[in-house]
Amino acid sequence: MDFPLEVVSEGEVEVYVPRLEFFKKQPQDYAPCMAPVFYNPAMELNRDIAVIALQAYQRMVNRELAVCEPLAGCGIRGIRFGREVEGVKTVVIGDISLKAYRLMRYNIAVNRLEGRVIAKRADATSLLACHSGPRRRFDVIDVDPFGSPAPFLDSSIKALRNGGLIALTATDTAPLCGVHVKACMRKYGGRPLRTEYCHELAVRLLMGLLSVTAARHEMGIKPLFSHSTDHYVRVYAVLKHGAEMADKTLSQMGYVLHCFNCFHRETVCESTLLQHGISCPECGSKMDYAGPLWLGCLWDREFHALMMEETGRKKLGCMKRVMQILKLIREEINAPPTYFVLDKICDNLGLSIPSKTKIIEMLKSWGFVATSTHFHPRGIRTNASAAQVKQALLKVSSSK
Ligand SMILES: C[S@@+](CC[C@H](N)C(=O)[O-])C[C@H]1O[C@@H](n2cnc3c(N)ncnc32)[C@H](O)[C@@H]1O
Ligand SMILES: [Zn+2]
Repeated sequence: MDFPLEVVSEGEVEVYVPRLEFFKKQPQDYAPCMAPVFYNPAMELNRDIAVIALQAYQRMVNRELAVCEPLAGCGIRGIRFGREVEGVKTVVIGDISLKAYRLMRYNIAVNRLEGRVIAKRADATSLLACHSGPRRRFDVIDVDPFGSPAPFLDSSIKALRNGGLIALTATDTAPLCGVHVKACMRKYGGRPLRTEYCHELAVRLLMGLLSVTAARHEMGIKPLFSHSTDHYVRVYAVLKHGAEMADKTLSQMGYVLHCFNCFHRETVCESTLLQHGISCPECGSKMDYAGPLWLGCLWDREFHALMMEETGRKKLGCMKRVMQILKLIREEINAPPTYFVLDKICDNLGLSIPSKTKIIEMLKSWGFVATSTHFHPRGIRTNASAAQVKQALLKVSSSK
């Protein structure tokens, strides 16, 4: 290698990566992108969760897995899959960069994974196209690119076997969270909205894009897991062949309507949107909308339980955060879409922010579903209306 390296250990592997501080010339420089080969230590949590999700999937299907990571950088993720996940037969890791390819090969040798982990220097779409025929397809494809995974979706779907698992990372949260609306429409085919729950909308837009792309290939999706953490969103879904599955998937697409005046929100499918009009039924203001996006479940309870089991078996550097995220998600699995953020409503009502637990307890005592959410530390996911949440806030605040 013609650039300085250092060795890092993550999970159960040790890999050589560019020595990041050497490439950071100015304080505002983002070192992972300045280095000749991509490596981001901040994505350890993403990789930790990927390892347990892959193991949970392997336990679910109970067969040997052929895995592909077509945008692999230094190879750390695919190498971890090869070493840490039982039942993984092969992992093909690819990158378009020659330097990345050389470093991946070196890291495979250092970890003595030759034969099980195979490095390729290739454009991701070409690599996946080579595996899009029968008996050449992968059981699992993990797409972890710069920015949006949208350009790689068609080729990934074609290279995945029936019932295979696809995992997607999107780091372009500015478009997905509504800062750059047009970029989101271009890449994800849906309108984002800058609400307090924009990170959930981001996950739903990404899942929505996956579902419509799969449907074009006569496939349907079953979401297994998703999370929004740090600067990215991530989704995991199983793809199943068949027009019926594809139709069922599309029936779970729709819109989220949001009233910026009174916080009222509701979900509607396409045909209802046309008849619905967009006046807020609570306060009469004009409502805004996000979508089309995925309105169905974002998690699968059984898959979540399998992931929980794996946390007890794996060596994860970010174990504490992984557990926190999994525990929060366990509560919100079957709760309705969108969540309220206490700061936003309290600001509107001129109240100081009360204890989230008290509000959740009050809403539950009134017979509503109410939980925390991993998307926001002061978020409450509930089927109570905005008016009822405000009522709970006023009641708890006045009893202080
Ligand atoms: C975000 S990094 C990957 C990080 C890696 N997945 C991890 O977990 O550490 C994206 C990588 O994609 C590679 N890349 C960009 N465009 C590509 C393409 N068209 N085909 C293959 N690799 C590509 C870049 O060289 C870079 O290494
Ligand atoms: Zn309203």
